[in-house]
Order: sequence, then C-alpha cells, then structure tokens
Amino acid sequence: MKQRSSWQRTHTCGELNLAHKDQEVVLNGWIENHRHHGQLVFLDLRDRYGITQIVVDQEAKGTAAGTFDVVKRLGAEDVISVRGSVRARDADKVNKNRATGEIELVALQVTVLSEAETPPFEILDKVEANEELRMQYRYLDLRRRPLQEALLKRARFVTAIRNYMQEHRFIDIETPILTKSTPEGARDYLVPSRVHPGKFFALPQSPQIFKQLCMVAGLDRYYQIARCFRDEDLRADRQPEFTQIDIEMSFVEEHDVLDMVEGMVVQGMREGFGIELPQPFPRFDYFEAMDKYGCDKPDLRFGMTLVDCSALAAKSDFKVFKGAVETGGIVKGICAEGAAEKYSRKGIDELTTFVTGLGAKGLAWAKVTATGLEGSIAKFYEGDKGKELCAHMGAKAGDLLLFVADSKKVVHKALGDLRLKVGGTMGLRDPKVFRCCWVLNFPMFEWNDEKGRWQFAHNPFSAPVNWDVKDFSVDTENIRSRAYDFVMNGWELGSGSIRIHRTELQARVFEFLGISKEQQRANFGFLLDAYKYGGPPHGGIALGVDRIVTLALGREGIRDVIAFPKTSMAFDLMAEAPGAASPEQMAELQIASTAKRPG
Ligand code: AMO
Ligand code: AMP
Repeated sequence: MKQRSSWQRTHTCGELNLAHKDQEVVLNGWIENHRHHGQLVFLDLRDRYGITQIVVDQEAKGTAAGTFDVVKRLGAEDVISVRGSVRARDADKVNKNRATGEIELVALQVTVLSEAETPPFEILDKVEANEELRMQYRYLDLRRRPLQEALLKRARFVTAIRNYMQEHRFIDIETPILTKSTPEGARDYLVPSRVHPGKFFALPQSPQIFKQLCMVAGLDRYYQIARCFRDEDLRADRQPEFTQIDIEMSFVEEHDVLDMVEGMVVQGMREGFGIELPQPFPRFDYFEAMDKYGCDKPDLRFGMTLVDCSALAAKSDFKVFKGAVETGGIVKGICAEGAAEKYSRKGIDELTTFVTGLGAKGLAWAKVTATGLEGSIAKFYEGDKGKELCAHMGAKAGDLLLFVADSKKVVHKALGDLRLKVGGTMGLRDPKVFRCCWVLNFPMFEWNDEKGRWQFAHNPFSAPVNWDVKDFSVDTENIRSRAYDFVMNGWELGSGSIRIHRTELQARVFEFLGISKEQQRANFGFLLDAYKYGGPPHGGIALGVDRIVTLALGREGIRDVIAFPKTSMAFDLMAEAPGAASPEQMAELQIASTAKRPG
C-alpha cells in the first residue's frame, strides 16, 4: 500500500466543502493572506486548485502544542502543511466566490515546509508590479491565478487538438530541431557545431521541409505540436520561439485541408475554452477580402464593409472624387451605422488625422439626417444625389459615411484600418465574440521595395493556382498561389498551402526568386531530389497556438499564455539568456566573437 507521510496532503486547497464537515484532513500550500485577531489567526492557503481558509484558535481543544507559536511567525508565501478539522462557516461568513467558501479548516497542527522571503512583488490576480520585474521572477508571477488559468486552458486546448488528430488518423512525428535553414522569411537562429568546425545548424523556423518529406515518404497525415524559432523583430503577437499545430496531408485539395482544420479548431475551442464557433467559416478569395474589408485578415464580428463609389464619384462635382477616378484611382466608403451622434467635429478630425497617417490625402464625410446630408461633402450631394449616394451605401438617418479617394492600395489600407477603429469605438469588436474565416488564393509573389526584387508571399513551396504557368516573370503580380490563411477576429492564426510536388516546377520557382542552382542544391537539394522519387500531391497548414490561446482568453499579448516568454528584446530576464559563452566553449567550437563588449 502507498504510504502517505503525516505532513502530506489528503486533499487540495480547492476541494473541501460541506460534505467533508467534521473530517480530519491535511492541506499543503502557500500562504496568500494572514490576518491576526488576538487569539485567532486566519490564513488563506493557496495551491493551484484553489484557496481554503484556515483558522488557528489558540484556545481550541486538541491543537498540537506550539502550533500558535509557529503560526505567529508565518508570512506571505511560506509553504506549510496544515492538519485540521473541517468546519461549516456561519451563514453570514459564507464566501460565495470561492468553491471552498462554505467551510473553513480549524487547524490542529501547522508545519512549516519552507519559509519564504518577502517576494519582490505581491502576488495578486490583478497585477500591480511592472512587467520586467514579473518576468525576472516569472516563477512567482506564474503563481497568479490568471496565468495558471491560461496555462491550464492552453493544455486543455492542445489535448483536444491531439485527440482530434488521433481520431482523424494523423501521425505525430517529431522533426529535427538541429537542422538547416528553412525559408519562412525570418532570420535563423544558428547553433555552431563542435564536430564540424565552422559549420552551423539552424533552428527550424518551421518543420516545413521535413513535413513535406514525410509526404514523399508516404507518411500521409502528419501532425506535430512544433516549436519554431524565428529571429525577427518582436511585437505583441510574436515571440522568437513559438508553437505551431503543424499539419500536412497527401492527395488533397484546398477544401480537404480547410474542412479538416475547421473541425479541429471548432473542437479545440469548445473543449479548451468552452467557446462555440459559428460554422461554416466563410471562405473569401483574397481579392474579395481586400475589396470588402481592405485587408487580408477580415474581422467578421461586424459589417461596415467597404463600398466602391467610383462610378458615382466619377459624375460628381466634388473635385477630390472626380479627380481620383479620372487619374486611375478609386473612391470607396464605409457606412458606420448609428455613428453620426457618436462623432463630433473633433472626433471626425481625429479620424482624418488617422487616415492621413496611413497615407490618405484626407477623409470625406457626411452624417445622414432625416432631411439629407451634413458634412464635408454635403454641398456636392444635395437632394436626389444625396439620396442616390445613401441608397448606394445602404445608409439611413443617424449613420455616418466616411470616404477615401486615392489609389486602390491607399484606399484599402486607410479604410480597412478606419473600419476597425470605428468598429472598436462603436463597441462592435466584443472580445467575447468569435468569428472565423478563410482567405484563399493569395498572390504568389510580392514586390520587395528595399531589395528591388520579387519575393515569395507565403513560402517558396506553395503551388501556383495555374499549374501550367510557363513564365513567372510575365504578369507576376497577378500570379496567384494555392495559399490560404485562417483568420479569427482580424488575427491571422494560421497559414498554409497546396504545395508544389514536382522537381521541375519547384526549381523554376526558386530560380525566379533569385535562388541560384548552386544555392538550390546547397539548401534544398534533398527536397528536389526527393520529388524525383515520387512526390505525392500534398498540402498543409500551421496554426499559431500562442495566438489562438491569447485570443480565446482575451489576453493582451502572447506572453500572457506562454510559461516562460522572452521580452520584446528577445531576452529571458529570469535565466538571463542569451548569455556569454566561456572562452573554453568558444575555443572548442573554434569560433570567436567580433562583438564589442557592452559598456
Ligand atoms: P507561417 O509563417 O504563416 O507559416 O506561420 C504559421 C502561424 O504561426 C504563427 N506564428 C507566430 N506566432 C508567434 N510568434 C511568431 N513569431 C510567429 N510567427 C508565426 C501564426 C502564423 O499564422 N510553414 C508554414 C505553414 C505551412 O505552410 O504549412 C508557416 O510556418 O499564427
Ligand atoms: P479640400 O477640398 O482639400 O478642402 O477637402 C475637402 C474634404 O475632402 C475634406 O474633408 C478633406 O479631408 C477631404 N479630402 C481631401 N482629399 C481627400 C481624399 N483623397 N479622399 C477623401 N477625402 C479627401
């Protein structure tokens, strides 16, 4: 039989209730609170399951000798064991906000398991200490319930995903961490090799190439909860290492991947977070998304779509509108329902500053009233013209109309962002509402102004929509790839594509991207070779776990759902990583650093 030492817990701090009345139990945990009232001391004892009130009564019968002396010396975060008897609280003392709120534990014996120094900050649900300090003492920050809840739900979500993948016959396959450069557009983290002096491993930016090789190997339906490493500029939704649900399937078309992933996300959100997602997720062609929402990651929690007014604008007397259309630009508008009252002149000036900051030359606007339009464009849209514009915009009295005239690129950027801003102000972006969609057929290449050349938009393995494309340098901007994004509430949470599975086409894409034959051999030779031996048609996707959890839990940034995250300077304040290597290590690796010593 298993032996329990006398100090070891019989229950957790979250499970005692009236059913345990008069039982003798042992709890272990951290002291969250201690209040002294003469001969009575109240302690709140915390573990990850909950919190239980302990009462120590100097005069109570049966209390072990010296207990009160021990208790008097206790402080916050001390780790203790309490043997006690469960007592019902008086009706007026019941704490309805706590699972254990109906009872308290009358201590018979208290043992100190570990004394704590005063922590550098108080461990509170609502943070007060600054983030740097909390990251330095992350293990203390992790004692806070909101962080524990995030990690618990994250684990539940990942378990639900694993179960779904198992049910759908996917194989969990581990791919190397010490590998070669994998092109996802970021810088690599490099690891010097001791055995091969002067050579470096790269940490994977994603398991992309290996999962494709699994398909060549016949390991149809691969998945992995994969750690990826990217040395890129960090933002709230990025970390240098992060986790993907990485998936690849053979003999599939887009809809096979999308249907499968849709089911997976629905199950994961339901079991992980209790969130029911409305289905089916709408599927937009890339250009449709751009036209309607001004961006490739539409927030579908609200309408306010972009309406093309170029035809009306062309016949208008308003020079800004007419001129834009005549010079090859477009005019688009959004109708903010019921927003006329919300925005004063000053409010509209702020919106104007906002769009000019995004490259627009101005913001034309009108409030719809019962009798017509009011605002900067009103004089050009009197009477029937105003009615025609309102009908075109689907506007009614009380609505606010906002227009931008410019090149398509500027209009989409300005109005796309303005839509989100106004939607936020109007309370249409409720963090508790979740709307997903797919965006398909992204452009295959994008122009890099800095480098003065075309680069891949998703990754260089995505197949073109038209398999027969002969020459990538002809009409390049209109060549589309079979790449798709998974979007929730305006966040890109996943990306994937149907891949190229033939050597010849893959080599031509590399060539067009300026990757020489030698580089192709050096970097991807093994992939190009693999296809020579029978590459099946295949496709897949990767979803960002950290981003999904952040969004589902309504947290500020992905750091809040990662146990040990890094700062925006890619630094671990707790472990102080990265750190210097010793001269011996450097000598062994046969490398030297040219960095100037800080200071
Ligand atoms: P991609 O680079 O779009 O695609 O990444 C897929 C998803 O991973 C998440 N993600 C990140 N999360 C946190 N921090 C980061 N720095 C970070 N970078 C990406 C995002 C993103 O949507 N190999 C391809 C997938 C494929 O084609 O199968 C890939 O990695 O949620
Ligand atoms: P203006 O004719 O420059 O006085 O501008 C009249 C109104 O049109 C103002 O409200 C400007 O903000 C707006 N405006 C100017 N240029 C543009 C533009 N390209 N698109 C939309 N509105 C504009």
